[in-house]
Amino acid sequence: SSCLLVFSHDEVTKHRSLEDGVWVTFKGGVYDITEFVAMHPGGNKILLAAGGALEPFWALYAVHDQDHVLEILSQYKVGEL
Ligand code: HEM
Repeated sequence: SSCLLVFSHDEVTKHRSLEDGVWVTFKGGVYDITEFVAMHPGGNKILLAAGGALEPFWALYAVHDQDHVLEILSQYKVGEL
């Protein structure tokens, strides 16, 4: 995350599959989580958020409200909205 770029919401929505890459947003950050999908403890449910915001899903699955989850997410930051 040494070189962060600014992305439009439209650009993020183009990345919603393993083929095109899986990007999500969280609190204004943009994350390329393609490599994490196969490691996700919650399985393919993670793909429901592909191309969009994590917030509505993490509001439903409070297991993500932990520092160690945010540490994982931070490793995949590619830019900001
Ligand atoms: C569990 C990370 C997105 C559903 C977890 C856990 C981590 C994680 C680390 C285990 C937490 C623990 O037990 O301490 C992430 C990351 C995400 C993401 C980094 C996005 C980049 C999602 C989304 C959904 C989801 C979008 C649902 C639509 C779940 C569920 C579990 C889980 C259901 C519980 C699995 C179980 O314990 O059986 N996630 N998650 N996750 N996640 Fe995610």
